[in-house]
Amino acid sequence: MKRIAVLTSGGDAPGMNAAVRAVVRKAVYCGCDVWGIYRGYHGLMNDNFKQMDLGSVGDIIHRGGTMLYSARSDEYRTKEGQDRAYANLAKRGIDGLVVIGGDGSFRGALHLADRGMKVIGVPGTIDNDIACTDFTIGFDTAVNTAIEAIDKIRDTATSHERTYVIEVMGRDAGDIALWAGLSGGAESILIPEQAFEMDELVERLKRGHKRGKKHSIILVAEGVGSGFTIGEKIKEMTGFETRVTVLGHLQRGGSPTALDRVLASRMGAKAVDLLLEGQERKMVGIRGKEIVSVDIEEAINHKHNIDLSMYELAGVLAI
Ligand code: F6P
Repeated sequence: MKRIAVLTSGGDAPGMNAAVRAVVRKAVYCGCDVWGIYRGYHGLMNDNFKQMDLGSVGDIIHRGGTMLYSARSDEYRTKEGQDRAYANLAKRGIDGLVVIGGDGSFRGALHLADRGMKVIGVPGTIDNDIACTDFTIGFDTAVNTAIEAIDKIRDTATSHERTYVIEVMGRDAGDIALWAGLSGGAESILIPEQAFEMDELVERLKRGHKRGKKHSIILVAEGVGSGFTIGEKIKEMTGFETRVTVLGHLQRGGSPTALDRVLASRMGAKAVDLLLEGQERKMVGIRGKEIVSVDIEEAINHKHNIDLSMYELAGVLAI
């Protein structure tokens, strides 16, 4: 294994740059040639390669986004697109590819693996929705961004004695809402993994109000539905003055936290180790403090489970 390429794909996540840096530097350290592929699978199909050296990844460890850019590509879903992508790797003699992204990106990587490319996935998404790893790169930063916003909203919520609904990202997963809700002291957290009754939510709000709570914060994961719809219902059912904030893409940007930088550095380096060992179709993960590897198929065919005890604790502490 002497020639390695790396790409970032899907929604960007803070820490992707640190992961790219780790892949490039570790590969160069081990005597490999490394290529960066720009714009994910779109760039791979369109031959958007650049050979990387140590300096190519200087001054990026602290930057959000991805220096390799990212894209979501419909064309790559076609057999022609996948053939072209593989051919662009093969003509350079590249025998190992590191894909940094989410489960959709890993599914894309398997099309190349089926054609003979050795692929390793590194989980990079703010959603923390990938099985077989406790955390994905970008999640910690996104949660910290969310609680910074929640803390600010709390100030104005207190001043005006209002109810605030805050919608956070996560696609079909509730981890951002759960972690931001518990650390932000939310009264209620609505996540797709846990059914909830509007009546119970309203009861809880009214109870809090009666015993003197001046304001309430309700965290809604986007997978549950629109924060605006939930805000409207709350207003209608309680009569409380209610406002809605959708945090949106704010959560995808910003300088990665130390945790994300460390995670990305360890995972990126591990991906190169795996390729040099001759491994393929693997995803790097973290379990506890240990960096591990699992079959990509196992990761994409299972669901990432939320920690139910955290959900229950959030309910108890917001009593
Ligand atoms: O997967 C990351 C994510 O930010 C999700 O939380 C969100 O549902 C989606 O991407 C938004 O995608 P886009 O940036 O393409 O609008």
